[in-house]
Amino acid sequence: MNFPNSGALDNPNLIVVNQQHPIQEELKFERFLIGKETINTSIVDSLSRLFSEAEKNGFRFTLVSGYRSIAYQKSLFDQSVQRHRDAGYSLEQAQNMTLAYSQLPGSSEHHTGLAVDIIDTAFLNDRQDLYDDVDQLISQQWLINHAVDYGFILRYPKTKVNWTGINYEPWHFRFVGQENAVYMTKNGLSLEEYIERLTTNSKSHLWFRTQYNDQR
Ligand code: DAL
Ligand code: ZN
Repeated sequence: MNFPNSGALDNPNLIVVNQQHPIQEELKFERFLIGKETINTSIVDSLSRLFSEAEKNGFRFTLVSGYRSIAYQKSLFDQSVQRHRDAGYSLEQAQNMTLAYSQLPGSSEHHTGLAVDIIDTAFLNDRQDLYDDVDQLISQQWLINHAVDYGFILRYPKTKVNWTGINYEPWHFRFVGQENAVYMTKNGLSLEEYIERLTTNSKSHLWFRTQYNDQR
């Protein structure tokens, strides 16, 4: 399989942060503040082009969440557990319900500044939160289909829960760069699957060299 040139394991746009790959301390990257949200400066141009193209098509979106510190993710996680506890669930149930949509502190890719929650503005004003039926709107469908041209993948699709461990989130986009985003979308790969394939591919070359060396 021919991977794009930017499909390299050391490409910083392909960093994986999840429960299997948590970070222990804050990552270093240049930060850019928009309103009250912060994003990785490296995605400012692509994100702003995506938003202007949306406006041209008559759609208005709100950036709900960009970079989150480990401490902030902890407070979001704890609040969600508490909400479920208040609704009468046991601690274990409340934690599992939270884990379906929220990563543990240290395991959220929002820590990278490369992940953004984007949702139809009217929907957000009306419902005051993120709900997955937003995907019924043609605006959100437009976003899901066009974000890829600007380097953003829908990171938690319905069909990839087994790979991502996170329920369907039609608002959570992750910047991986345009070439990678197009490749992953064309081949129906989640980030976890893409990284696994790139890893296997790089190991297959290592294996070849080892055999060759052994024979000499
Ligand atoms: N909602 C996503 C999975 C996060 O917490 O990072
Ligand atoms: Zn998110």
